Amino acid sequence: MTRLRDRVAVVTGAAGGMGRAHCRRLAEEGADIIAVDLAETADALAAVAYEVEGCGRRCVTGFADIRDPLALEEAVNTGVVQLGRLDIVVANAGVYADLGPAWELSDESWQRALDINLTGVWHTVRAGAGHLGAGGSIVIVGSTNGVKGGARATHYSASKHAVVGLARTMANELGPQGIRVNTVHPGSVATPMILNDSVYAKLRPDLPNPTREDAARVLAERTILPVPWVEPVDISNAVLFLASDESRYVTGIELVVDAGLTQKV
Ligand SMILES: NC(=O)c1ccc[n+]([C@@H]2O[C@H](COP(=O)([O-])OP(=O)(O)OC[C@H]3O[C@@H](n4cnc5c(N)ncnc54)[C@H](O)[C@@H]3O)[C@@H](O)[C@H]2O)c1
Repeated sequence: MTRLRDRVAVVTGAAGGMGRAHCRRLAEEGADIIAVDLAETADALAAVAYEVEGCGRRCVTGFADIRDPLALEEAVNTGVVQLGRLDIVVANAGVYADLGPAWELSDESWQRALDINLTGVWHTVRAGAGHLGAGGSIVIVGSTNGVKGGARATHYSASKHAVVGLARTMANELGPQGIRVNTVHPGSVATPMILNDSVYAKLRPDLPNPTREDAARVLAERTILPVPWVEPVDISNAVLFLASDESRYVTGIELVVDAGLTQKV
């Protein structure tokens, strides 16, 4: 598979449900990977590197909290030195936590969501952009909560709407150099971010100990297609399209992958 032959991609949140799938999918298509995540994900990140290498590609792992611009720049720069170039930035890391009505959100929860989901994305794009040349592609992972409001997630939804403005503006700034900037907006995706007891309890407040299946029934009612969620690889395929030359004249857009969640009437 050669859609990204010999390109180099940096992926943040690389140890998570979706980040891992992005690393693997881009590597399957010929890319070397700079996989960045928090230090506490070291074991998971090593497993990601093993998978990438299993695809015959190189993988440099780096530890950085995307709220820390210096650590992030160091991780990106180290990867670029080792792999020789950078063509693709996938700003994927994010958090979805402390769900509840806006008036009950603490200042800390609000600030953490904005610091990671917005400022961290800006740090990521800034750390990568200077390495990109013509043909470069930046893909920011947003959310359907960045397309319409999200229940009990004001902080998350505000941060995910904000990255659309970041992407549209940077698309204008970098376009003249042949660098594209787009967002991908997943609906519900089968990763630890939503497959956990806390989210099940928010989805099924009527049950004392709701299960994955109980949550799936609620989520399946929200989509047009008959599934409760999509798989991480479905988002990775959208990231791959936007990273590859197949989308060479696509910039400044929002690509929604949500089984019809945002369009259901
Ligand atoms: N899972 C979903 O249903 C869903 C839906 C829409 C959008 N998204 C978005 O997709 C992206 C990936 O989510 P996921 O489902 O894979 O989540 P996940 O929780 O499985 O993985 C998130 C990864 O980001 C890393 N991370 C968190 N904070 C970080 C920080 N400050 N610095 C560096 N890394 C950090 C985590 O360590 C983890 O590896 C996120 O931006 C999320 O908002 C997820």
